[in-house]
Amino acid sequence: MTLDSVVPWGRTLDEYRRMFNLTESDLRKRILGVGDGPASFNAEMQQKGHYVVSMDPIYAISAAEIASRIEQTYDTVMQQVKANAANYNWTDFQDADDLGRQRMQAMHHFLAGYENGKQSGRYRVDALPVTSFADQSFDLALYSHLLFLYSAHLSEAFHIQAVGELLRIADEVRIFPLVDLTNQCSPFLNAVLADCQRNGFQTELIEVSYHFQKNSGQMLCIKK
Ligand SMILES: C[S@@+](CC[C@H](N)C(=O)[O-])C[C@H]1O[C@@H](n2cnc3c(N)ncnc32)[C@H](O)[C@@H]1O
Repeated sequence: MTLDSVVPWGRTLDEYRRMFNLTESDLRKRILGVGDGPASFNAEMQQKGHYVVSMDPIYAISAAEIASRIEQTYDTVMQQVKANAANYNWTDFQDADDLGRQRMQAMHHFLAGYENGKQSGRYRVDALPVTSFADQSFDLALYSHLLFLYSAHLSEAFHIQAVGELLRIADEVRIFPLVDLTNQCSPFLNAVLADCQRNGFQTELIEVSYHFQKNSGQMLCIKK
């Protein structure tokens, strides 16, 4: 599967819990959702009384504009998912149409609370590899579906700088998945691991129960 650019596509709290092995105690931490885009993670966490700050360059635009971008890219994404259905494990979703329905539900949930969330600072316009957050602003930074996945679009230097930046602003970083858009292990994983180890950070590859994309059942956990 290849996409010309990063598409607005959002997952749920349940998916975040499984991608990142989030425990109840993790949910009470100061969490930064990196590149959360139109995921419903932040909105669902708020409804449960937890506080997440999500950062994404897409938050520079309005709810109506994000909704329109979702609409513009939705058919292309669905066509690619259907054409490459064999690349996915169809256990959580019955088929591509079921996936599409659930994704749209999550994204509408996000859109419903987006403008309020932006005003209250839950949605922040920022982008890796350099952000405006102060050192150690968060206990845990979660990054799903950009780093490693978009290895064909983002360089090794970008990956290393982005991970270094996340470790400046958070004590722990978890990244999922570790495969690229062709389901192969990212060519940059070893370089990121080596750089973390050189800087004295602890790294661990951890099995998770979320593996919709084939070959993608691991996350990278990095601690200071
Ligand atoms: C495929 S979406 C994943 C959304 C969400 N993390 C999820 O898994 O449901 C990737 C997101 O990364 C965001 N993104 C792109 N470039 C970024 C950057 N330099 N820094 C932070 N986020 C970025 C995009 O705007 C998009 O919302």
